[in-house]
Amino acid sequence: MKLLVAGGASYIGSWLVPQLLAEGHDIVIYDRLLFGSGFLPKDNDCLKVIKADMRDLASWRAACMRKDAVIYLASISREAMCQQNPELAQKINVECFAPCVQAAKEEGVNRFIYASSVAVYGSSTTPLDEDSALAPTTLYGQGKMLCEQALWAEASPEFTVTATRSASVCGYAPRMRLDLTINRMIHDAMRKGIITVEGGNQVRTHIHIQEVSDFYKLLLTIPAEQIAGKAFNLVEVSEPVIHSALRVAGATGTKIKRVPRADDRSYAVSGARAATLGYAPKKTINDAIAEVILKFRSGYWTDSETNPRYQNMAHVS
Ligand SMILES: NC(=O)c1ccc[n+]([C@@H]2O[C@H](COP(=O)([O-])OP(=O)(O)OC[C@H]3O[C@@H](n4cnc5c(N)ncnc54)[C@H](O)[C@@H]3O)[C@@H](O)[C@H]2O)c1
Repeated sequence: MKLLVAGGASYIGSWLVPQLLAEGHDIVIYDRLLFGSGFLPKDNDCLKVIKADMRDLASWRAACMRKDAVIYLASISREAMCQQNPELAQKINVECFAPCVQAAKEEGVNRFIYASSVAVYGSSTTPLDEDSALAPTTLYGQGKMLCEQALWAEASPEFTVTATRSASVCGYAPRMRLDLTINRMIHDAMRKGIITVEGGNQVRTHIHIQEVSDFYKLLLTIPAEQIAGKAFNLVEVSEPVIHSALRVAGATGTKIKRVPRADDRSYAVSGARAATLGYAPKKTINDAIAEVILKFRSGYWTDSETNPRYQNMAHVS
């Protein structure tokens, strides 16, 4: 297939794209390269990287021409970054999305896969499914919800639209994100010798990055009628933060320090709908922890405390 991966120079994209190339797809990554592109397999003849912004609709439209499917990962993808510049988050995470979807549809793209998030749900102590009411509590989550609504509005028999609502992802990728909960705990264990947990009883959701990649691959090939107009939660566990910290502490032999946290809201989701597609996660959170520890022990990210490239913390304009 000819694929256009918006925001493909990302944590998830840097793991997914090489696998799509190995499956024989032709890929164009369209990304403003906020975190660079040195980690992409740019010597592969089947990969082209376009450095451009989602807000540049003419460039986006040109990139959509003669593509079979779009995987849309581009985003200001952390609440702290959205809070730093809410106007920009609104422009990138919300306003430019509907025109981008419409352009893809007009250019004859058949399938549009959007990277949404469990952040579209409000807080809950019991696992929410895809039919639960959406009540996001963050700017990031509100943006995801609005984009989903814009996506569903463009659905047609010729234009299959679907969305992943992923839990917080963990595990190794060439464009590493050490700010994500479990990756950060491993970082702190390996670099600081202590895992600091704020609160700990609040529930959070997690999934291995390979499982996210496998699900995108499934969405590219599965019959349209099974996914059209539907969102899918991607999750392995919903568990208290202290349980995740205990996994990392056990694997690294590190102590945990608990500090108070004012906001102890919980977020929990069910992955039952994805299972109806025959999708059965194989890689676990514990696998992700072991793999990232191994990378640290092999000398990766020695500059992790000073190099902003591994953290979604940078100020974006
Ligand atoms: N990582 C997670 O835990 C997680 C969980 C749920 C959903 N998601 C979603 O999955 C997608 C990928 O996540 P990630 O962690 O790989 O993100 P990331 O932050 O690593 O990458 C985002 C990418 O989008 C690009 N980008 C940002 N603004 C752009 C713009 N205006 N024009 C063009 N490119 C732009 C950046 O350069 C970057 O390469 C995001 O949409 C994110 O919201 C991620």
